[in-house]
Amino acid sequence: MQLSPLQSRLAASVIASCLLVALYFTLFSPHFALAAELKEALPVLLDNVDFDLAADQPERSPLDPVYEPEFPAFDRGIVGRATQLAMALTNNEAMPLNVDAGTTQLFSFAVPKLPARDEGRHPLELRDGHEGPEERNLGSNALEGDAALEARDAQAQAHTLERRQSSRTVYISANTCLQPQPVDPSKTTMDPPQLTLFVSTSASNQSPGPRGDPSSQVAVTFTGGAAMYNVTTPSDEIYLGVYAPNVSSAFSGTYNFQIAASTDGSVFSYSVDQDAGLILVDSDYQGALLMTHNLTDSTDPSAQQQIMNSQPYVMFAQNTKDRSINGLQYSYCGLQNYAQIAATKNGQFASMVTTGMTKRGPGSLPKQEFYFSGLNSSSEYVGILARIGNSSGTDSVLSGGHVFRATSFETNPDHGNCAIIRNLTFCDQVAYSVPSNPNKFGNATVLGQFYDNYAATMYANFNKSLAQIPCEAVSSQRYSLATNCSLCAAAYKEWLCSVTIPRCEDFSHDASYLHPRALVQPFPNGDVLDQEALAAVHFENTSAFNSSRNPMIDQFVQPGPYKEVLPCEDLCYKLAQSCPAAMGFGCPLPGDPGFASSYGQRSSNLSCNYQGSAHLRSAAVPAPAISWALLGGAVVGGLSFVFL
Ligand SMILES: *[C@@H]1O[C@H](CO)[C@@H](O)[C@H](O)[C@H]1NC(C)=O
Ligand SMILES: *[C@@H]1O[C@H](CO)[C@@H](O)[C@H](O)[C@H]1NC(C)=O
Ligand SMILES: *[C@@H]1O[C@H](CO)[C@@H](O)[C@H](O)[C@H]1NC(C)=O
Ligand SMILES: *[C@@H]1O[C@H](CO)[C@@H](O)[C@H](O)[C@H]1NC(C)=O
Ligand SMILES: *[C@@H]1O[C@H](CO)[C@@H](O)[C@H](O)[C@H]1NC(C)=O
Ligand SMILES: *[C@@H]1O[C@H](CO)[C@@H](O)[C@H](O)[C@H]1NC(C)=O
Ligand SMILES: *[C@@H]1O[C@H](CO)[C@@H](O)[C@H](O)[C@H]1NC(C)=O
Ligand SMILES: *[C@@H]1O[C@H](CO)[C@@H](O)[C@H](O)[C@H]1NC(C)=O
Ligand SMILES: *[C@@H]1O[C@H](CO)[C@@H](O)[C@H](O)[C@H]1NC(C)=O
Ligand SMILES: *[C@@H]1O[C@H](CO)[C@@H](O)[C@H](O)[C@H]1NC(C)=O
Ligand SMILES: *[C@@H]1O[C@H](CO)[C@@H](O)[C@H](O)[C@H]1NC(C)=O
Ligand SMILES: *[C@@H]1O[C@H](CO)[C@@H](O)[C@H](O)[C@H]1NC(C)=O
Repeated sequence: MQLSPLQSRLAASVIASCLLVALYFTLFSPHFALAAELKEALPVLLDNVDFDLAADQPERSPLDPVYEPEFPAFDRGIVGRATQLAMALTNNEAMPLNVDAGTTQLFSFAVPKLPARDEGRHPLELRDGHEGPEERNLGSNALEGDAALEARDAQAQAHTLERRQSSRTVYISANTCLQPQPVDPSKTTMDPPQLTLFVSTSASNQSPGPRGDPSSQVAVTFTGGAAMYNVTTPSDEIYLGVYAPNVSSAFSGTYNFQIAASTDGSVFSYSVDQDAGLILVDSDYQGALLMTHNLTDSTDPSAQQQIMNSQPYVMFAQNTKDRSINGLQYSYCGLQNYAQIAATKNGQFASMVTTGMTKRGPGSLPKQEFYFSGLNSSSEYVGILARIGNSSGTDSVLSGGHVFRATSFETNPDHGNCAIIRNLTFCDQVAYSVPSNPNKFGNATVLGQFYDNYAATMYANFNKSLAQIPCEAVSSQRYSLATNCSLCAAAYKEWLCSVTIPRCEDFSHDASYLHPRALVQPFPNGDVLDQEALAAVHFENTSAFNSSRNPMIDQFVQPGPYKEVLPCEDLCYKLAQSCPAAMGFGCPLPGDPGFASSYGQRSSNLSCNYQGSAHLRSAAVPAPAISWALLGGAVVGGLSFVFL
């Protein structure tokens, strides 16, 4: 049968449609099925997604009534047991935790076994002892039961012996990071009580704490927010409790602490030694310069360079009126949280502190220095040095931080006419307060340059005269066999920098070794000393009292009344000794006219100024042997430069 074109088109489109429908079902039918499934499954999924177990239990579980009740049971179990559960500490790892007043947090520490090589020291007889039973065990089936028991006994015995042999020292240390704060700081004068660490090595006392058996535990009360305790024990497990005492209602908040157990050393540590590790170099009315001791005794340049490239210490400073760090002075994290100024990365007001390495001072050994600015005048501060170590075995300070005893320092009254300068180019050893005037030199860098340029100019004159000395001549023609031109130049520089850049103390400072200067001039704020004040400092109408040592200072700086720490006499003696007599350097001797207003004598205090000086507790240095012949009896009154 022939189809008309229309019919064949219809047939073709019907066939195509059928094919299409078939194809459609083949390809897409699963989607219908899935959609149908989803419609029923969806509520279940949503229900399961909602893990808020606390909310309406009965409504949520029509689909799985058996499954549901397991959750609340489990949940309750954890909550119920939480206060009893001891948290496991990992060797050398600090664990931070909150503890509410009146409660105890428990910890356990599984003492790591000694490394194999240490156990190798165990006596061989130990192994011989249980070799017999083991052999019998292997050799005879009939004896198996008895032999196995025997072997087990022997092993247990060996194990106890081994454990006794491998007694290990465990160092437990902790830091209080947060403590309850006074509700009304203006009324509360006491500090929140310290936490207590309880340590038990006995399996019979696994919850050491205030109610634990005192005979099987040790209580260590935190000192300044820190606790360190070491125990040498054969036991496998140590049990710890940190107890927060009840706190009076004057305080609110909770305690937070970090605790760590280690077999290598205290993770958190502190030292209460008299030696604070920090030396006050000088302070002015708004700042203070402090530095560490020599960080090495090594004269090896590469060892020194390695230290110069590091900045091992951080520092905290606190106005003593601010009580926020009280009770936390030995806690690194406590200081980090509460100290007013923290010279640490991202520390509180870290912009008020600059720190760097320096080799300034006697010995030219590396030290780290800290310069604080923006402090209040006439205020007492404490500076606390700290160090964050790392847990590599070679470093005795582990990662938690070591905190040194605080160093106290005071800022000057606000006369504003003594300012710390440092980091000078020529007089590179100068880092102390100098006469200043904020109206003339608002910027310590510019003030420093003023003094430094002056000293450098003076030195250039000296250098010209030194050039006329036959320094390079054969020894018979040299001016001295004991000394030479480079020693002379060094002595001159040291003396020059100390003399042209006077060390300034505030006028109100009343130490007897200080010399009053520029008494008749006005302070930067315009105040002038009255007769009474002048009489009090035994004013004499001489240039030693009514002006500065150096006319340049009165002319350009105009600091007004201040007191000077006079340069040490030995600087002058050394100069006179080292340089050719022809240069005519002479020094006044104690008792000579002019000596008292020109030079100071060393004592245990910083009673005279020398290059690299600081407020060391004992700065006493034996007086250098002086060749009196060289001093030539010349008397140099006040400041005089003697050039050929
Ligand atoms: C362990 O602590 C005691 C004081 O409790 C201390 O004298 C001793 O030096 C410490 N031992 C070590 C190795 O730190
Ligand atoms: C601490 O306070 C709680 C509740 O106020 C009291 O039950 C407990 O006895 C107190 N503990 C001490 C040691 O005072
Ligand atoms: C650094 O070492 C030198 C040389 O041993 C010594 O004279 C100086 O007093 C030391 N300085 C400090 C700050 O300890
Ligand atoms: C300066 O004193 C004010 C007022 O006593 C005080 O609020 C501020 O914290 C002090 N600043 C420093 C750096 O000591
Ligand atoms: C840890 O100290 C060692 C040497 O004491 C040093 O080589 C290493 O770089 C230090 N690591 C860190 C992360 O500071
Ligand atoms: C000291 O001055 C030099 C430039 O003269 C500067 O690069 C350096 O940062 C300064 N150091 C300090 C601690 O201010
Ligand atoms: C001091 O002045 C110098 C040059 O004018 C400037 O580079 C420096 O930033 C100033 N320092 C301060 C602390 O203002
Ligand atoms: C001192 O003079 C010598 C040449 O006589 C020169 O080499 C040296 O750089 C000068 N020193 C200073 C600080 O000007
Ligand atoms: C000067 O003497 C010192 C010490 O005796 C010596 O170290 C130095 O090399 C001498 N300098 C010259 C240029 O001879
Ligand atoms: C100091 O003496 C000079 C003259 O020698 C006199 O002009 C001046 O008024 C005196 N100053 C005082 C404060 O006595
Ligand atoms: C300071 O004392 C000297 C010496 O007595 C005197 O010549 C000078 O005028 C005095 N200067 C002032 C400002 O009193
Ligand atoms: C050192 O300072 C103390 C306290 O400031 C003072 O009592 C003592 O007299 C001073 N010693 C000397 C030698 O000036």
